[in-house]
This record gives sequence, structure tokens and C-alpha cells, in this order.
Amino acid sequence: MKILVVGGGGREHAIIKSLKKSPRVTEIFAAPGNGGIAADAVCTGIGAKDLEAITNFARENAIDFAVVAPDDPLVLGAVDLLEAAGIPCFGPNKAAAILEGSKVFSKDLMKKYNIPTAEYRVFDDMAEALKYLETAPIPTVVKADGLALGKGVTVAMTREEAVEAVKSCMEDKIFGDSGSHIVIEEFLTGPEVSVLSFTDGNVVIPMVSSMDHKRVGDGDTGPNTGGMGTIAPNPYYTEEVARQCMETIFLPTMRAMNAEGRTFKGCLYFGLMLTEKGPKVIEYNCRFGDPETQVVLPLLESDLLTVMEATTQGKLAETPVKFSDKSACCVVLASNGYPKKYESGYPITIPADLDAEVFVAGAKLDGGVLKTSGGRVLGVTALGDTLEEAIEKAYAQAANVKFENAYCRRDIGARALQAREALK
Ligand code: AMP
Ligand code: GLY
Repeated sequence: MKILVVGGGGREHAIIKSLKKSPRVTEIFAAPGNGGIAADAVCTGIGAKDLEAITNFARENAIDFAVVAPDDPLVLGAVDLLEAAGIPCFGPNKAAAILEGSKVFSKDLMKKYNIPTAEYRVFDDMAEALKYLETAPIPTVVKADGLALGKGVTVAMTREEAVEAVKSCMEDKIFGDSGSHIVIEEFLTGPEVSVLSFTDGNVVIPMVSSMDHKRVGDGDTGPNTGGMGTIAPNPYYTEEVARQCMETIFLPTMRAMNAEGRTFKGCLYFGLMLTEKGPKVIEYNCRFGDPETQVVLPLLESDLLTVMEATTQGKLAETPVKFSDKSACCVVLASNGYPKKYESGYPITIPADLDAEVFVAGAKLDGGVLKTSGGRVLGVTALGDTLEEAIEKAYAQAANVKFENAYCRRDIGARALQAREALK
């Protein structure tokens, strides 16, 4: 089968490497792909948001199955267009992708269907938002309604910060129209867990749980990034928590979307916070997480293509989805300076006998040489029988991958190990 994967980051590289294991896959194309993905797929260079070019390419090249990985094309309706062109496609349609595309939609959905989440208020008038902030409990959280490159959330520890965040969204419009509506919500505390799931509107099959490390610095310090590393499984996600989440969050969300006439088929990502009052939804994503996918898919033992097809066809209930009971750790190597200013264009060396998987996010081929081209350059994922083993191996192998100005966090998985000890 000929497969098209839309996207060009580490997540897409992990999806492609996983699909490649399927005996039924003969050729994979990426739109756009990147210099590292080029080792595993034909990179078309077509932009992930160029829906017309993507659909034309899929039709002209007789693509048998497409996977739309990033949020932007999903929210823009890539799946609807590909399906209309007769190409089976993994991912939610536009009507369902709104679950990530609009925070106001997702908060109102949770309220309507009693799905646990932070208390909130919606504002489309700046004066009202600022007035509310005069007496709102602090800390508070300000969220732009629409997609904002993952930067639309401000956790404000002071009233001034909250006011600033509201003004940036609604006056300076730093997120464009995404910020013309905002959500101001209750500040929650507790450990965070990412749960990616397959859902076809009939069942929800959670994948192995994971933990992201969003801040740039060790000990969760410094600015937020796209994710500096991940581990799986997440020790906070015990069997009891999993049961609670299925009952109070996963199935109610699936049913709510069905009831709204917006059946969600694809990967539904639950960003959860385990509060004293039980698990609550921090955010929904309508897609695989990045870099969660880089630890979750290497643990998938079932054939990814088969599972994706079953999701699309509404046949998940009869399809086995099995994960290894090993652990995984992904250490992201970034360009020094990221998420602020950084330099790129440095050659990358990856030993051929590296005992780990490398998922390339920001690199391009320059005269046959792989060179850095982005903030997050690549992720090194290792598996182990225990979390300790996976972490140790990921760092040992990451040390063999070299480029000038490389930076990584030294403590990916440290909090998970502490948590496991505390939960014993
Ligand atoms: P982002 O990845 O930019 O969407 O940032 C989301 C992060 O903001 C989450 O991972 C949480 O750490 C934090 N966050 C979002 N909503 C809340 C909330 N209601 N209470 C506390 N922290 C939150
Ligand atoms: N790792 C968080 C996300 O993919 O949104």
C-alpha cells in the first residue's frame, strides 16, 4: 500500500517508522517531511497546510491511505478533502477537530456533559475580561481560543501577568484571531499525564500513558517549549486512575462528540491533571502528541496501519491494540538557545550502529549532509525493561549523536522515577 503522511516533525518521523514495520506498506510519502525523514520516506516538500496540493498529490499518486498528523491541517479540514477525493484517511474531520481548534468549544462541551475540567469564563470583550481579573482568584490561567502554535496558554502567577496575557491576546493580537475570544480558567495543581487514544466513535482504546517535559531547563525551569523529552508509561497513571479516566473522561468525551454530531475518529489526546478531586482535563488535542508519540509508538506491538485503518472504518472494537510492557524514554536534542534565538546549519552525525531510534524534527539535507535547521533537532528514544534502564540508555545513546551547539535537558524521567518511589 502507498501511504501519505502529512507533517514534517519528530512525531511524523515516529509515525512513519512505525508504519514502515507493516508488511503491507510498500511506499511512504511525507508532506513535507524533513531531511531525516528522507531516510524513511519520499519527502514531497508540499506544506502541511497546503490542502489542495496534498489532495492533488494523493489523487495523482494513487495513495491508498493517508495520515494527517498535525493540528493545523486537521482543523482546516484536510481529512474531509482527502476523503472527498476517495482517499481513506486517519484523523478527525473538521467538525471533530474543533475539539482542539477551539478552547471555547471544548470547555463548553465539558461543561454541558459534566466532564471534569477547571472552572472557567469565556470573554470576547477585553474590558470585561480585565474587570473580571480585578477580583479573580490568583494564580489563574489565560488561554487564547484558537490554535496558537502551542503558545496560547499563560499560567499567570500574579494579577499583572494575567492582565498582560489578556492584553497580548485581545489588544496586541499576538495570536491573531485565535485570541479574539479567550478563556480564563481556574488554576489546578497536580501531576500531569498525557494519554493518547485511538477512537472510532464506538470505543476508546488508550495507548500507553506518557509524561512530557515542557520547560526548557532542568527541574522544570525556564520558558515552555514544544517538549524537551518524554517517558512512558507515566507512573502516576495507576490502574485505578486509568479506570477513573475511562469512566469520567474518555467515554463521556467520545459520547459527547457523538451526541453533538461530531463523531471523532482518529487519535484523541487527553492532557490530564491528577488533582486532589480526581483527574481533570487540561486540554484535548485532536492528534498524536509531540514528543509523546516518540515514546508511545515504539512500544506499540500491533501493526499501526491495521489499527489506523480499523479506526477509520469504525472497527476498533474487534482489532487488537497491544503495547509492550517495557518502558521508553525520549531525550530531545535541541539547538542551544531554543526556544529563543538559536543558530542552525550544523552537520549532524548519527552512528550507523546507534542502539536507539532517532526521530528527526528539525534538520535538512544539504548536499547529502544532514544539518540542523530547527529549534528541536531530533529525539533519541531507547526502550528498557525498567524506566531506569530506558532513561540510562537514552542518555548514553544520545551522547553518540553529535552536532555543534547541541542542548538537552539532563533530567528527563527524573520526576517519574521519584514519583514511582513515592507511590510504592
Ligand atoms: P500548552 O502546552 O502551551 O498548552 O500549555 C499547557 C500547560 O499549561 C499545561 O501542560 C499545564 O502545565 C498548564 N496549564 C494549562 N491549564 C492549566 C490549569 N487550568 N491549571 C494549571 N496549569 C494549567
Ligand atoms: N506534547 C504536547 C502536545 O503535543 O501538544
